[in-house]
This record gives sequence, C-alpha cells and structure tokens, in this order.
Amino acid sequence: MIAIIGGDGQLGQDLLKTLAPREARPVSHSELDITDRERTLRVVEKMKPDWIINAAAMTNVDLCETENTRAFEINALGARHLAEASRSTGARLIQIGTDYVFDGTKDGPYIETDMPHPINAYGITKLAGELYTTYLNKNHYLVRTSGLYGLHPCRGKGGKNFIDTMLGAASKNDSLRIVADEVLTPTFTEDLATQIDKMIEAEPPFGTYHATNSGQCSWFEFAEAIFEKSGVKITLEKTTAAEWGAPARRPAYSVLANTALLAQGIDIMPAWEDALGRYLVKKLDS
Ligand SMILES: NC(=O)c1ccc[n+]([C@@H]2O[C@H](COP(=O)([O-])OP(=O)(O)OC[C@H]3O[C@@H](n4cnc5c(N)ncnc54)[C@H](OP(=O)(O)O)[C@@H]3O)[C@@H](O)[C@H]2O)c1
Repeated sequence: MIAIIGGDGQLGQDLLKTLAPREARPVSHSELDITDRERTLRVVEKMKPDWIINAAAMTNVDLCETENTRAFEINALGARHLAEASRSTGARLIQIGTDYVFDGTKDGPYIETDMPHPINAYGITKLAGELYTTYLNKNHYLVRTSGLYGLHPCRGKGGKNFIDTMLGAASKNDSLRIVADEVLTPTFTEDLATQIDKMIEAEPPFGTYHATNSGQCSWFEFAEAIFEKSGVKITLEKTTAAEWGAPARRPAYSVLANTALLAQGIDIMPAWEDALGRYLVKKLDS
C-alpha cells in the first residue's frame, strides 16, 4: 500500500489516480498535520504502508518568504517526521523536491550531483527537508521537479496554476507583460505521476532523481505557447523578474536534467510542449 501525504494537492490527486492499481491511499492535511511529530509517527505506524510519498508542502513561494517559520515547520520538519516514521516502520519514502534548491547561476541544466544553493526561503526549507530525508531514511527517492501544473488546483497557490492565470488574464486584457528572464521546465503533474509509477515498478537504486518534462522555456515563452495552442490572440510584452518585483527571488535558470532516470533507462518524461497540448485538450474537455 502507498500512503500519499498531501493526497488532495495538485500532484497528490494525480498520484492517487495513477497509483490506484497499487492500492494508493490519500492522507489529507485534515487527517494528518505533518508538523505534529507524535501524530505522524502514530498514523504511519497504524497505516503500515509499503511506500510513503510526501507530496505535502507549503508551496506558495512568496508566502514562504514572509512566513519563514511555518514554511520550515512544514517543508523541513514535516519531511523529517515522515522520514523518521518511514524508517521506523520499514516503509520506502518518496520525497518530492524542487528546482528552487538551486541558485540559477549554472550555465546548463542542473544534474542530481550539483550542489544546491537556494536563494529564497522556500528553497532553503525544501533543501532542509531533502537533507532530513536523505539522512534519516536511506530507502528513499528524492524526486526533484519544476514548474508543476495539473488539472487539480494547486492548493498552496490559490487554486490556480500559471496556465489558468494566463488564460484568465487574457480574457480581461488586450496585452500582458510576462517575465522573460527566468527559464525552467514546466511539468505536467500527470506525467510526473506516471514517472513515479515507473520508478516504483522499476525500483532503481535509492537516491536523488530529477524528473521534469523535457526541454526548457522562459515564463514568456511558456505564455506564448499557451496562447498559440489555445488559439487566443493577445499582445505579449517581455518584462524582467526585477521589474515584476515578486516578494521572493527566483533562480534565473532552474532547468533540471533527468540524468539519473536516463542512466537507469527509465526516463519517460515527454517534452513540455507535448505535455501542455495534452493538458489544454483535457482542460477544455473537463
Ligand atoms: N507547484 C509547483 O510548481 C512545484 C514545483 C516544484 C516542486 N513542487 C513540489 O511538489 C509537491 C506537490 O506540490 P503541489 O503543486 O501539489 O502543491 P499543493 O497543491 O499546494 O499541495 C500541497 C499539499 O500539502 C498539504 N499540506 C500543507 N501543509 C500541510 C501539513 N502541515 N500537513 C499535511 N499536509 C499539508 C496541502 O493541504 P492544505 O491545502 O489542506 O493545507 C496540499 O494538499 C511539493 O512538495 C512541492 O514543493 C511543486
């Protein structure tokens, strides 16, 4: 049985659907607050899962900047409690990580062995969670991903992903300004859930794995593709992250290479353009 912590989140819901044949059970925030160590140990002891997937986090990057302590409690200590609980019950642990543990100064995609150096509170707390995971339960997969969007709402970000925000803004404006100096790989949660299913099936060596859709783009280029594929005509202007002035700094370049998955022959992540097309078709059907 697979316990999915954060089971009602954007990624958690797709994991639940994809992993259903493996007997996946959602654990929502209302059932378990992972900042409560004793309760986390008790709930996991009672469930006795074979696997725990920690898809729970404080995901609002700007909010983490102003609510540092809460972010640390959830992203770092919550991960620690699940690492302790999984170790004591013999469960294998999949911890979901982020591209924002890197500072964005590398001249090319980040690989799993690159040294993290976060530049915002979210990245610092997620890195601390990674360290607790790897330190406390050697039977782990740390799966770092990037720019998630899915058909289910991102709970930490007001229920909207970047695509919804763009399409919503386009219905009210003739032109939009989009940040063009941050480059990443947007990743569809359905593809990530399928990749995690593949990892559970293949059981590669424990350790750190990058898992994003392939390719890269700036937020501006992502917006261009969203409107082109949706047939929406709108004028787009480039702006910079500095001009945009979000509370938290973001890495200018946070593309991850799925090097470890490739080395194991189990990288099944499609291109981001392909993923976006499938998302838009499903979104229109829903
Ligand atoms: N979204 C992205 O762009 C992105 C990019 C890279 C990596 N990631 C990582 O991917 C994972 C999944 O994120 P997501 O996009 O699915 O975010 P999400 O929709 O915001 O889901 C996060 C989940 O965590 C739960 N949660 C928050 N605090 C909790 C606590 N103290 N105890 C138990 N559950 C708690 C939330 O429940 P409530 O809403 O009820 O609090 C929610 O179900 C996270 O590890 C995130 O860091 C996300």
